[in-house]
Amino acid sequence: MATLGVNIDHVATVRQARRTIEPDPVWAAALAELGGADAITVHLREDRRHIQDRDLEVLRRTVQVKLNLEAAIAPAMIEIACRVKPDQVTLVPEKREEITTEGGLDVVGHRAATAEAVRRLHEAGIAVSLFLDPSPPQIDAAVDLGVAAVELHTGAYANATSEKARHEELVELARGAAMVRQATLGLNAGHGLTYRNVVPVARLEGMGELNIGHSIVARAVLVGFTQAVREMKALIT
Ligand code: PXP
Repeated sequence: MATLGVNIDHVATVRQARRTIEPDPVWAAALAELGGADAITVHLREDRRHIQDRDLEVLRRTVQVKLNLEAAIAPAMIEIACRVKPDQVTLVPEKREEITTEGGLDVVGHRAATAEAVRRLHEAGIAVSLFLDPSPPQIDAAVDLGVAAVELHTGAYANATSEKARHEELVELARGAAMVRQATLGLNAGHGLTYRNVVPVARLEGMGELNIGHSIVARAVLVGFTQAVREMKALIT
């Protein structure tokens, strides 16, 4: 059985659209816990486009389940992580111009910088997960670095436009998952997972944490919309 890490970044995206105080991702985290979230995930991006430093600090004090911070390997981000001490840091690649995380971390290409980030996080007592494409050389490099877990990037699977392509991407994920399992690392997955495509990924043998954000926030906006309108209407009529 997989566990659910709820990524609340896009609650903060709505707030930042007006630079106001609502909706507060801290409230969303509490509601996610009430709904059964096994972990709360936030990505503190270097450009602070959604989650802010204050959010991470308050969440560290209030989240009762596992707190998973997604962060770039940049020294400034690692310093924040070591100070705030989430339960897990998932290292991700980050480009300023991207809409969302594109592709997994290139551990093979950035081995020394990744190793240094992992070393500092381990020294601070923080478990590390690496967000990787299901590529054997990347998974081998993660095993060498002694991290606790790998989060397999499910974006190619989620974006596949035919059943055949989706099946092929699922086979790649299953191969990657088998490598992660054999190395006795924790097996996580995420990116682009939705109510329609999540089940085959959740059923991969040994699957641990699934980190899901956009689809849950998108559904929350719609399932809550009628109630929100009713409440406003009741105030003014
Ligand atoms: N996992 C990682 C490493 C991510 O960077 C993201 C996006 O922030 C997610 C999971 C969640 O992706 P989505 O919002 O598409 O569910």
